[in-house]
Amino acid sequence: MTHQYLLPPSPIDNVDDYLAAGGGRGLENALQMGDAATIDVITAAGLRGRGGAGFSTGRKWASVRTAGSGPRFVVANGAEGEPATFKDRMLIRVDPYRIVEGAAIAALSVGAGTVYLATKRSYRREVQALTRAAVELSATGLLQELSVNVVEGPDDYLYGEEKALLEVIEGRDPLPRLLPPYELGLFATDSAIGWEAGSRPVSARGESNPTAVNNVETLASAAHIMANGVEWFRAMGTSASPGNVIATVVGDVVRPGVHEVEMGTPFSALLELCGGPLPGRRFKAAFSGVSNAVLPADGFDTPLTYEDFAAQGSGLGAAGFAVYDDSVNMTVVAHEFSRFLAIESCGQCPPCKQGSLAITADLAAICNGGAGDEMLGDIANLLRSVTDANRCFLGTEEQLVVSSIMRQFPEDVAELLEGRPSSTRSVYVPLIKDIAADGTVEYDRRHGDRPLA
Ligand SMILES: Cc1cc2nc3c(=O)[nH]c(=O)nc-3n(C[C@H](O)[C@H](O)[C@H](O)COP(=O)(O)O)c2cc1C
Ligand code: SF4
Repeated sequence: MTHQYLLPPSPIDNVDDYLAAGGGRGLENALQMGDAATIDVITAAGLRGRGGAGFSTGRKWASVRTAGSGPRFVVANGAEGEPATFKDRMLIRVDPYRIVEGAAIAALSVGAGTVYLATKRSYRREVQALTRAAVELSATGLLQELSVNVVEGPDDYLYGEEKALLEVIEGRDPLPRLLPPYELGLFATDSAIGWEAGSRPVSARGESNPTAVNNVETLASAAHIMANGVEWFRAMGTSASPGNVIATVVGDVVRPGVHEVEMGTPFSALLELCGGPLPGRRFKAAFSGVSNAVLPADGFDTPLTYEDFAAQGSGLGAAGFAVYDDSVNMTVVAHEFSRFLAIESCGQCPPCKQGSLAITADLAAICNGGAGDEMLGDIANLLRSVTDANRCFLGTEEQLVVSSIMRQFPEDVAELLEGRPSSTRSVYVPLIKDIAADGTVEYDRRHGDRPLA
């Protein structure tokens, strides 16, 4: 039985309960230790970002603290736009105070005086929970002079991408900028280009305002580590992926839901918590969001760690899984995911937008039975260039998802090309609106109505 610390047994809905249960100790310890020692603790704990890439949190904070010039900022990323993921909203609902405490620890570490807690305008419960936590914790005096602001962003998938998130905080559309947040942070006055020949005179440079963007679960984990110590954290998980993770499972399982599990738990054990496959069905494949290569069912014993999922040619991502059984043709999944990514692509990099649109059209032709073998060569060519000169990872997601399905499930593609489909089941991109306590998932189906453009 996993020792749960991220998701409390019942929601913490006022600051008195939070402090009475030991909340705030992490920040007090960090204040006593100071910035450098706090970063050392987070680095020694081996905390890795829960937003998708699994980047070392200690290393990120160290580089924001020392890079560039100008004021520093911290952004808590609670945009949660990844399909099949609901864990951030669950965490914000049940323990928003921990996220604010973690953001304050990050601010102390990197030397920031301002924190932005970013979620979506349409996530009303989350906006309210974060606002309440920020106001109540500030009123205790624990946050000292720190300014904490809640940002209500748009529904776009790209809003959660860190370089697009900074644009939204500055009042613009979610179009990823060129440079990463530690090089060009919030309200920077330095050039956004970054490719000038030769060095510019110091007088021509503005300030770069290095900014730490962290997923809300990462920040909550940091607060727990500062309260309980490195050994406590490292006693859970593996040496390369310590601690617990909050996982979401939706799709073809008996009880979809959100579970906090120890890192290193086999994926198959997580699926058992969800009741296993639907009656009479066998698992076929799973995806962590739409960001990584498919994991076929023969890999379902893979431990939930960054290193084990990478060794399978996939990725743990934000540990939000869409599971499919043997009633679905995986080419249909490839088409639906590609369609989602093509619509969400912002178009700043033509190979990403035009390539994902063309791949989607080709996959639609295959799924509709109107394509010949030459379509495979066309898709292969497009997949090679869809990542060219890209500002963000979205084009790579298109490449990973589509190419891995074509490679792992050639028989599914063949039966459509040969006009003998064994399944006519349609699939929707699993954007989650809500998950009820009994596991009933309400999907956001609006994407299906959006035109492909
Ligand atoms: C298209 C796209 C969408 C993303 N959406 C989210 C998101 O909704 N929430 C999130 O925390 N990270 C998201 N990310 C990852 C962020 O860019 C960033 O890596 C993360 O917030 C860093 O936090 P971490 O180091 O704590 O993981 C997304 C990335 C991409 C490429
Ligand atoms: S890679 Fe795609 S989504 Fe990302 S900035 Fe370029 S066009 Fe936009």
